[in-house]
Amino acid sequence: MEHETIPGPPGLPIVGNLADIDATNPIQSMCNLTSQYGPIWKFHLGGAERVVVGSQALMDEVCDEERFSKIIAAALDQVRNGVHDGLFTAKGPQEKNWGIAHRVLLPQLGPLAIRNMFNEMHDIASQLVMKWARHGSDHTIQVTDDFTRLTLDTIALCAMDYRFNSYYSEHMHPFIDAMADFLKVSGDRARRDMITQMFYRAETQKYWDDIELLRKTSQQVIKTRRANPTDKKDLLNGMLNGVDPKTGEKMSDESVIDNMITFLIAGHETTSGLLSFTFYYLLKNASAYDTAQQEVDDVIGKGPITVDHLTKLPYLNAVLRESLRLSPTAPSVGLTAKEDTTIGGKYPVKAGAPIVALFPMIHRDPIAYGEDAEEFRPERMLDEEFDRRNKEFPNCWKPFGNGMRACIGRPFAWQEALLVLAMLLQNFNFSMEDSSYQLQIKQTLTIKPKDFYMRAHLRNHVS
Ligand code: HEM
Repeated sequence: MEHETIPGPPGLPIVGNLADIDATNPIQSMCNLTSQYGPIWKFHLGGAERVVVGSQALMDEVCDEERFSKIIAAALDQVRNGVHDGLFTAKGPQEKNWGIAHRVLLPQLGPLAIRNMFNEMHDIASQLVMKWARHGSDHTIQVTDDFTRLTLDTIALCAMDYRFNSYYSEHMHPFIDAMADFLKVSGDRARRDMITQMFYRAETQKYWDDIELLRKTSQQVIKTRRANPTDKKDLLNGMLNGVDPKTGEKMSDESVIDNMITFLIAGHETTSGLLSFTFYYLLKNASAYDTAQQEVDDVIGKGPITVDHLTKLPYLNAVLRESLRLSPTAPSVGLTAKEDTTIGGKYPVKAGAPIVALFPMIHRDPIAYGEDAEEFRPERMLDEEFDRRNKEFPNCWKPFGNGMRACIGRPFAWQEALLVLAMLLQNFNFSMEDSSYQLQIKQTLTIKPKDFYMRAHLRNHVS
């Protein structure tokens, strides 16, 4: 077989491609470089070489779990300092705690269990509706902020019956601040080499202090639950009492803490970003907006939303899928070959070397999505076309990751996002604060719209 060198920007001896990748928005830089160098290219950063793949065909190849597996590299490796072998940052089945937590938690987060969390989700979503109704249509809504409060309060309430009450205070709860800082610094640390890192002593101290605060608070939540047991079917009870059907073991207290923090980390920014992008796309596409609102009016009308309504909203489903296609809020995943191999038929990759699967490019591959791949067109995501395309172009839509390391919170995120979208369209008409706003991206571990503001006008009926 003929081998070809993987192309890429040249870079410099020590700093590598530091100048080619914008530190504040690396995903956008990688997308631009994919347009320049093609669907497979490589770069050097922080002393390591990374290969980027950005087409459906290459994604399909690296989704083969016989040949490739998840790698904990860069920012995830830094997050691992705080949550160890919790589900998200575990190396995989070779770490025993991942297997136990995976098997204990899978049924707790399955579609049936999630239905039981509907009332809690509805409770927090109603608080958001109330807040926007009270503030009136002159109020500028900080879209991503308000959705982040919503998703954090929802996951904390559903996971461990804990109320952050983010809508009732000006300042965020200290746990939330510590988590946000920990995540931001994890990303920053990942971009530095060890020598540069030594110049950030104060930041390093705060990073470890934040980790301690997160763990101590979680420990306290467990202690409180043990002192006041309930028969509530939340994730905390699931973690404390669940028995792994394979080993017969329970999760250790350390693993419960790791996973409790993991759920809060993995379960808020992604869903908040999804809701924010969805409102951006709807407000830029009047006919999609009208169709979505009409579906809500036809299926739910003016009365209260029930969990059964959520199964009857095909267009809203398609809107969320299309939003995640164009703006996948977890924009990339890290993979590696299990053995030295070639990909794309000719490019050699080494076992253990990081491969970045770049969703915004994979999701815009014109071979899978056609010439209008850049456009927001929810119709293409209605079940029939969605299923047909995924059959013809496998792995062309992967916003929840792949295989056994795919998102365990997907049913949770979907129910929450559908409910909130339906409830908001039912109660309000929305407009953009600035109709000339062009999408800009703010990147941390996830992506969100930057400086995106809107207004909510009550529709004169109450849910
Ligand atoms: C894993 C996306 C919501 C918990 C993942 C992965 C992706 C993803 C791409 C794979 C990461 C990788 O391979 O490195 C999303 C998106 C969401 C979302 C787009 C919302 C729209 C949630 C929620 C929760 C959650 C609500 C918690 C309730 C997790 C966990 C993992 C994970 C624990 C690690 C699973 C494992 O490896 O065993 N998610 N996620 N996610 N997600 Fe989500």
